[in-house]
Parts: sequence; C-alpha cells; structure tokens
Amino acid sequence: MRCLLIASLLAGIVGSVSGHRAPVTARKSLGFGPVHAHAVYRSNPYQIVTNGFVPQSPDADPFEVARLFINDILGPNQVQASYRIRPDSYTDPSTGVTHVYVRQLVQGIEVADGNMNINVKDGKILSYGNSFFAGTPPSLIALTDSPTLRYPHREYCEDLTAELEKQYTVFASTQNEQTPLGSHKMSEFDASVGHLTHMHYSNCQFDGLADEMALERPQAVGDVGDMRPALLQFMVAATPKSEMVNDILGKYNEHLEKMTISGINHFTPEGEQTYFFVDNVPDTVNPVKANIAYMQIPSEHGSVELVTVWKFEVEMEDNWYEAAVSAIAPHRIVSVVDWASDAPIPVPDTPKEPASYNVFAWGINDPSEGNRTVEKENFDGLASPMGWHSLPFANDPSFKSVKPNNAFYRNTSTTFGNNVFAQENWEGQNAYLNNYRPDAGSSAVYDFKYNPQASDSDEAMDVAQSYINATVTQLFYTSNMIHDLYYRYGFTELAGNFQQYNFGRGGREGDAVIANAQDGSGFNNANFMTPPDGTNGRMRMYLWNTANPYRDGDFEAGIVIHEYSHGLSTRLTGGPLNSGCLGWGESGGMGEGWGDFLATTIRSTENYSDYAMGAWAANRAKGIRNYPYSLDETVNPSTYQTLDKPGYWGVHAIGEVWAQILWLVSQALIEKHGFSQTLYPPMPFENGTVPANDFYRPVVGKKPLVPKHGNTLSVQLVISGMKLQPCQPSFFDARDAIILADEELTGGENFCTLWKAFSLRGLGTDASVQGRTPWGGGIRINGFATPATCT
Ligand SMILES: *[C@@H]1O[C@H](CO)[C@@H](O)[C@H](O)[C@H]1NC(C)=O
Ligand SMILES: *[C@@H]1O[C@H](CO)[C@@H](O)[C@H](O)[C@H]1NC(C)=O
Ligand SMILES: *[C@@H]1O[C@H](CO)[C@@H](O)[C@H](O)[C@H]1NC(C)=O
Ligand SMILES: *[C@@H]1O[C@H](CO)[C@@H](O)[C@H](O)[C@H]1NC(C)=O
Ligand SMILES: *[C@@H]1O[C@H](CO)[C@@H](O)[C@H](O)[C@H]1NC(C)=O
Repeated sequence: MRCLLIASLLAGIVGSVSGHRAPVTARKSLGFGPVHAHAVYRSNPYQIVTNGFVPQSPDADPFEVARLFINDILGPNQVQASYRIRPDSYTDPSTGVTHVYVRQLVQGIEVADGNMNINVKDGKILSYGNSFFAGTPPSLIALTDSPTLRYPHREYCEDLTAELEKQYTVFASTQNEQTPLGSHKMSEFDASVGHLTHMHYSNCQFDGLADEMALERPQAVGDVGDMRPALLQFMVAATPKSEMVNDILGKYNEHLEKMTISGINHFTPEGEQTYFFVDNVPDTVNPVKANIAYMQIPSEHGSVELVTVWKFEVEMEDNWYEAAVSAIAPHRIVSVVDWASDAPIPVPDTPKEPASYNVFAWGINDPSEGNRTVEKENFDGLASPMGWHSLPFANDPSFKSVKPNNAFYRNTSTTFGNNVFAQENWEGQNAYLNNYRPDAGSSAVYDFKYNPQASDSDEAMDVAQSYINATVTQLFYTSNMIHDLYYRYGFTELAGNFQQYNFGRGGREGDAVIANAQDGSGFNNANFMTPPDGTNGRMRMYLWNTANPYRDGDFEAGIVIHEYSHGLSTRLTGGPLNSGCLGWGESGGMGEGWGDFLATTIRSTENYSDYAMGAWAANRAKGIRNYPYSLDETVNPSTYQTLDKPGYWGVHAIGEVWAQILWLVSQALIEKHGFSQTLYPPMPFENGTVPANDFYRPVVGKKPLVPKHGNTLSVQLVISGMKLQPCQPSFFDARDAIILADEELTGGENFCTLWKAFSLRGLGTDASVQGRTPWGGGIRINGFATPATCT
C-alpha cells in the first residue's frame, strides 16, 4: 500500500493570546476504513494454530519458512493462496528477526487490505498478523454494488453525528439555560467542537451526493476503467474549500474532460505496483496516482465481500491522501488515510571537521528549562557515518553543477545534509530547495542570535523572522539527534528510515526529512507527512501566537520529537512501503501516543517528574493534552475505557491514553532496572563489538544487545514492538507486540512487570472491546487481570 500519513500535533483549537491573526481552525483530515472483524494477530506460540507446519531448522531461509507457513495457514483454498511477498520485507540484524510482509492477490489483482506480517526467527514463527480475504471471490471482476454492504463513509458520518450529540449533551448539562440552547450558546458550543463540526459539514453533508451523481450520470459496466468520476467524487469530500465543492458540482463535465490520464509505467521493476497518473485534478498539487484493487467490505449478513476500487494517492496543499473509492457508481469512499498524524559502498572520505551549533542542548525540552550553549556536531558514527553535513553529489537534489572528479560526497556549509534538509518556509508552500538556510561558511560554526522581545502585535512576526538563523539551526540539530538516536534502536535503512543516501545498507534512499521552520501554512501546531520509504518525509513546524513575543515550535524539542516519531511509527508498522497502517482509530491514536511517550522519555531525568506536552509553545501549564503524563491517578486518570468518553473521537485524545499507559510501563521498568543518564549507546569498535560499559548488559555469544536500564529498555521494547505488530494494530496488538519484544530480547524476564503495568490502566488480559466502527469507536471494558503465572 503506497500512501502517506499527515499527522498534526493537535486536533483542537488553541486560543490565541496576542494573535492579530484569525483564530486557528483545525486542518481538515479524513480517516476511516472497513472494520476487519476477521483480522487476527497471534503473538504467542500457543496461539499459533497450524495445519501441520512445524518449525524449521534454525538456519533455514526465513522467507522459505514464511512461505511454508503461509501455505499452511491458507490451506488448500485457492482464492487465498495467491499472494506476493513485498520487497520491503527485511531481516533485522540487531534482533535476527525477519519481518515478512505479504499482500493477497485475487485474480491477479491486489487486495489492498489483505495483509500478512510474519515475524520469523531461527526457523520459527514468532508472531503473525493476517487480514486476508477468506470469503468467496467474485466470478470475474466485481461489478455489483450490493445494497447490503456496510460502506464505511456512511457509518463514519452516523458516528460523527452521534459524537456531536454526545458532546452537545455534555455541554448543555454545564449550562444554566434551558435546552435547546440559545444561539449565542450554540456558537460557543460550535467553537468548542470546531474540528468536529467542520468535519461534519465538509464530509457528511455530501454523503447523499454519491447516489445523486450516480442517478444523474448512469455508468455503463465498461466505465469501470475510467477512474475520473470516482476521483472527482473523492475530491468533493476531500477538499476543505466549500467554493471548490460548488465548482466541481457546477462544472462537473468540464472538470471531468480536463482531467487527463497518462498510461501505466511499463518499466516498473518486477514485483512493484503499476500506476496510472491523472493530471488537472482540482485542488491537488501533483498528478494523482491511481491503480485498481480490491477491498474487503463487511455486509449486513456478517459476511465479507470484495469490492473493486480505485486506489488513489492524492497530494493536496495540506493533505496527502491514500484513498480507495468504489469503481462502480455510486462511487463510495471505502477507506482513506491522510499523511498528516518513514551500489557498492565507496570508501568513506574523512568526515569533514565537525560543525558546532548554538542551541538548546539535547535534553532541554524548551527555553523555560535552560539556556543555549554551543554544542558540537556530535553525530553517531554508526547512524551518520559522514556526519550531518555531507551527502553524495548524486543524491543531492540541490546540486545542479558538475561534480568534481573523484569526489563522491559533497560537504555543505548549511543546514542541509544526508538526514535532514532544514530551512525557513514562511510562504508555507511545498517547494523547499531554494528556501533560506543559515550558512556557516568554512568555520562551520552555527552561532546566531536569539533574543526575542515583546513588540506591538503587528510586529510579532518580524521579531520571529529576525532570528530565523537560530531557529533553522535548532531544528536541524534536534532532527539529526533524533535520527541518530532512533537509528541505534533499530530505525535503520532496512527498516525504512529517512536518509538521502543509505551507505549500501539496504532500504530505499532519497528520503531525508524536509524540515520546515516557521512554516507559513499554519499557527499553533506542527505536522509530519510520511510517504513510503524512498520518498522524503516532510515536517512543518509552526510559530505559536500564544504569547508576545511569539513562541517558536522549533525550540520545543518535544514537538519536534513528536513529529519525527510519526515517521518512525508509520515506517515500522506494517513495513517500510506501507504507510497506511496508522490511519485512524486506535492505531492512529497510538501514532500520536508514541510521539508523546518518546518526547517525554527523552526529556525525563533520574529524578521522577510529571510532564505536560507542548506547555511552553502553547503557553499553558497543562500543555496541549487533557492531562500531564503522571504516575498519579488524580493527575492523569486516563484508562483504556476513557476512549469511549465524549471528546475522545480524535486520534490525539486516544494517543494521550496510550502514551499515559506506556509512561506507566516505562516507570515500572525503571523501578526494576534503574535509570540511564543517556539514551545513546556507546559507539562500537571497528570490529563491531561494543565497548563494555554501563549501557548494555554483558554480551554472551551472538545475542542481541540488551539495554541495561529501564528507560533505555522501554525505548527499545516500544520501537521493536512497532516492527512486530500488524498493520492497523489495536491497543491489544501493540501491547502484545511489546511483550513479545521482551520475550525476544530478554527471554521474557519482564513478562509480569509488563502485564502488571499494562493492567494498571485497564489493559489487562480481560480487557475487551465490542462493536468497533470504521473510525475506531466501540464499547470498551477495562480489564485489570494479569496472567495466572503473575499472581
Ligand atoms: C569534504 O571534507 C573532507 C574533510 O575535510 C575532505 O577530505 C573532502 O575532500 C571534502 N569533499 C569535497 C568534495 O570537497
Ligand atoms: C538563562 O541565563 C540567565 C542569565 O544567566 C539566567 O538568569 C536564567 O535563569 C537562565 N535561564 C534558564 C531557564 O536557566
Ligand atoms: C543570518 O545569518 C547570515 C549569515 O551570518 C546573516 O548575513 C543574516 O543577516 C542573518 N539573518 C538574520 C535574519 O539575522
Ligand atoms: C536528582 O536529585 C539529586 C538529589 O537531589 C541531585 O543531586 C541530582 O542533581 C538530580 N539530578 C538531576 C538530573 O536533576
Ligand atoms: C574489538 O576491538 C576492541 C578494541 O580494539 C578489542 O578490545 C576487542 O578485543 C576486539 N574484539 C574482537 C572480538 O576482536
């Protein structure tokens, strides 16, 4: 599945203090898809029931083991037996686990949501996820629109209406007025649920439109090959502009004729998806990629049917969607994920002299915690062998002249390197190559002034822009530190990390993070777009007009870490080439939660403290979430069941619950294993062995390295868990994957510690959920039990 995920820091509206700008409205974003009641994730050996598959010898080819296993669990059923192993499957050298990603084919056509992820080690299956279609396939290509199918878009709108009603009841109960409320109270209510009413207006009032358009323009069976009507239908729902909706509907045929299709690319490498390209699609910024596929839709009778869809990759100003729309009129949106929230080795040159930066050093979360100091370019030699300011001439999109003879790496004197391209983006557009970056010249000292003072509100922007050199320097420094840190915990080239050049170490290159400082496309937020491996990720950091002088999100490390972590979790979950696994509901929520958890863990110290997210930028002690992260139930009362409360519709609120649960898990590990002052492992010697110091446990044999302390171990388990969990994981799946990661790494010595910590907030063995909906709703029940062996 090729798609992107844009994830923004918050969903709600942050009030403006000194703002002369219009109040900030939430960026429109769609996210829903069919519920796969038949999907399974099996993370315990005893849960893995087979028809006769037996573990193979430890040195058997893991892909062959996976094939034997797939054929075994599929049985003789020919429908399901067709599949392809995706090219982004890999063996992780740090754990020895091979992550095999499988896509189902029916009649040679991909089932876009028919995924397996199989984790193989030493000839054995550690765990697997499976959402393959198991029903009766259509005789040829499915061309009927059965009235009994439960299309997600409709249910999404019904649920959204119900959520608004729920929140209205809560709001009304706090008012001393009779209901229905007067109009001034209604506008107050609308403001309090601004993002929901906006979504309702723009997505759901057009719900009946698919049927109307189908009536007006009956479609012949042969028209299934023309993706343009389905695409226009999607744009009506996707565009945030009501005038654009009216324009599309008013000039429907004109738009349709303007859209031109260019053919499938015949030179696609073997095993890769082929695409059509559609030009002149309204409200997009690049040609739309399209291909035909199947999707699985549940029916009212409890069965699952395959529906023929057009799959689109739609790049817009503020969204980058992967959408599936039924190919037969009426064209219904079946699923949509928004990315907004991953040669021979030349003899390395000597890295250039390390640069230095005047920055808030790593560990200082924001300017309220410390002052700037001059820090060395302290790159990690494994993660960034050539430092942060060198990249091959051949991989540098900004280099247009002639490459000097015999030179392979280009040294830069700006905030432009192999991992990160950092620059201002005041215009808020997508172009970045020619945007301004500080240039340190041959000194390589990035020392620029930062001393913002209060001003008249209409000068606040000039004040912020006057320290752009310091801002971009900080964003470059923080982002590179994160790159190097995550690399050492397994976010490597093979696992789909972000680098222009991969040093011959596998994975797809050409995808440094484009990091935009003071991005003009918004205020009081930040976001990150994660396309599949091999395409640049894009981070957009905003100014916050919550104080005078403005606060600059680039200086709040927690926000930068949160955003970068979207790239981490999206690339690791479901494989580097599948960016569609964390689109909505619990999985989308965890996509937010991991970022908060990692940001909080990175700033935490040996002396325990509670932490709030984004408190400095938002100029609000309690930060941008409902509660600070805390051990204390009276400070943060979130439990699994909290997800059912009004106001937990969005991924950010769900993520907050997940991050709180992970926070308790990591504190339990710290209590047991102690606290490491640094999260950065020592550099290995040239022969590959790691110096004996206090970071890892002593190494016995060829075992993976085990971080010694609770905080480093929890970062490792959380990141390893991402690789083990299935596409679209639930809280249960992600919990089980973390417990499996511990089994793999330590032989399960923290089994009971982990279960006890998860159960504290309701994620025990007896937790349950009923009636999952396309956007992630359902009825949850806390479970506080732990496995019998732990009591
Ligand atoms: C980059 O810097 C290194 C170390 O100073 C030097 O050896 C190398 O020649 C430089 N590369 C180019 C293309 O100037
Ligand atoms: C920064 O330095 C100034 C001057 O030395 C000092 O007064 C202030 O407390 C420092 N700020 C922080 C957050 O440490
Ligand atoms: C940024 O730094 C450059 C180079 O030192 C300097 O010429 C420029 O004036 C600075 N820009 C701002 C806005 O201070
Ligand atoms: C933690 O507390 C101890 C004892 O008060 C103190 O010595 C130490 O500096 C503190 N550590 C940090 C990182 O604040
Ligand atoms: C690897 O190199 C280090 C430092 O040079 C040395 O102490 C160690 O014994 C070497 N290990 C092996 C297995 O060669």
